[in-house]
Amino acid sequence: MVEPAINGNLGRGRFITFEGGEGSGKSTQIKTLAERLKATKLRAIVTREPGGSPGAEIIRHLVLSGMGKLLGSEAETLLFAAARDDHVRTVIEPALNQGIWVLCDRFSDSTRAYQGSLGKVSPEILNAMERVTIGDLKPDLTIVLDVPVEIGINRATARRGASSPDRFEAEGIRFHQELREAYRKIAAAEPQRCVLIDATAEPGLVAEKIWTALRDRFFVGNPGNVASSA
Ligand code: TYD
Repeated sequence: MVEPAINGNLGRGRFITFEGGEGSGKSTQIKTLAERLKATKLRAIVTREPGGSPGAEIIRHLVLSGMGKLLGSEAETLLFAAARDDHVRTVIEPALNQGIWVLCDRFSDSTRAYQGSLGKVSPEILNAMERVTIGDLKPDLTIVLDVPVEIGINRATARRGASSPDRFEAEGIRFHQELREAYRKIAAAEPQRCVLIDATAEPGLVAEKIWTALRDRFFVGNPGNVASSA
């Protein structure tokens, strides 16, 4: 978590989510962006899903252990929804209301991609769950990191080392290919909110593209904002 800076700007914070398949580099990029925002004196926190609040972290443990899978796609989706509900109410909304920017590693697009496209949970059920868990809360910006499946899986395997894959890492290559397609479709369907970024490039270049996306949306034409000169 990035310490709030003393001179954070006033008003509601911005909600930025990071999405992508396994090994797309989200964690590295979120960390870099948080540091960069901190350097501009904007207050920011980094959080993640599933998890991000004490209650949701307990559910994270359950779903990543594979327990949720045994219950079937819809019940597993309900577990992600329950975790999100707690995370939104206890962490995300309070932070945004205090003017703190929230950088979240995965959010509702993960449910759309993993449970919707792959688990075949219907859009009606997903919409109903979103109404309950997130209501009107939409990310102000969603960064979708896109890498070919082989590269992503190799990165994730190298990162994992000797430990065994979690419930989703253990799925086959076809699952990950469909997942990539699902994310590309989400990004294409909502270009105002989503930016699809080629994450095969070296991390510094990817970070620059992410910063440009933020600058274009939040800082350009707003000279009073500290980040405009960064
Ligand atoms: P995590 O270890 O955080 O993976 P990653 O580094 O890839 O983000 O594990 C989270 C896993 O949970 C990931 O495989 C995606 C999956 N997931 C869903 O299936 N649905 C969801 O709504 C969310 C938030 C995550």
